[in-house]
Amino acid sequence: MTTAPETSYDQSIRIAAALLRRSSHVVALVGAGLSAESGIPTYRGPDGLWTKFGEPTIDGWEMFCEDPAAWWEVAIERRGDADAPGGEFAQAIDAAEPNAGHRAMAELEQMGHLSHVITQNIDNLHQRAGSTAITEIHGNRAKVRCMNCGWRGELADISLEALPPLCPVCGGVLKNDTVMFGEPIPRDALDESYRQTALADLFLVIGTSAVVYPAASFPIMAKRRGVPLIEINPHETDLSPLADVVIRAPAGTALPAIVDLLRR
Ligand code: APR
Repeated sequence: MTTAPETSYDQSIRIAAALLRRSSHVVALVGAGLSAESGIPTYRGPDGLWTKFGEPTIDGWEMFCEDPAAWWEVAIERRGDADAPGGEFAQAIDAAEPNAGHRAMAELEQMGHLSHVITQNIDNLHQRAGSTAITEIHGNRAKVRCMNCGWRGELADISLEALPPLCPVCGGVLKNDTVMFGEPIPRDALDESYRQTALADLFLVIGTSAVVYPAASFPIMAKRRGVPLIEINPHETDLSPLADVVIRAPAGTALPAIVDLLRR
């Protein structure tokens, strides 16, 4: 009986699993591509949100700082309105469920093969799939954050009667936890991302075009320390030339295949 010759995809999955098996502190940088199979549009690329509607203006953060009450009024008005700017995206996130890629990452964590996820996604799907060791470098859409003390809480738990909503800890102004264009990355998320990058002995780069910084700098910093990089993305990216293993496949296919091999 003849066995089918090993394809380059099979080989890349096998090598990736072997690298995971022998590593002790694996860190993953994740982007919109992981949630694409949950029906959430990516940003760039043919059907990307920015490609279709243009990138948001850089002054979103400034406008929030100038008049947070006005920002909240508009945000509340637009809730549930698919025609409002970002309405389609918001509805896609509200309707989304974790996919096989998210679940495989949670399983890799439970199996002890994945120590930390630095996600650029704001959709809370990692947590819903069971992942716990996560840094949300661009925030979380379901949360709020205090501009003064950094306290974070669930958006659903705060009253929007009086605007802007204020922090239950220090009375500071609360904003949505999502990091706006022009807004500095919250210090705690940045510090933890650098800390995890320094600890990594293997780095996964999953579903990101790697064009937004500082997020895209983490795999590059790890690579400079001689840490192997594995890229999972159906398309070429700016990081592909640096990757030791390239898996040209959707994350929802590649990650479960790696978990399968590691279970054996
Ligand atoms: N599996 C894996 N990767 C995929 C899949 C999939 N099923 N589908 C698409 N991709 C890849 C695309 O090839 C692309 O390289 O996902 C990547 C998505 O890239 P972007 O749309 O640029 O998203 P991302 O890299 O997450 O953007 C970074 O930019 O606008 C900001 O704040 C926003 O967090 C976001 C940041």
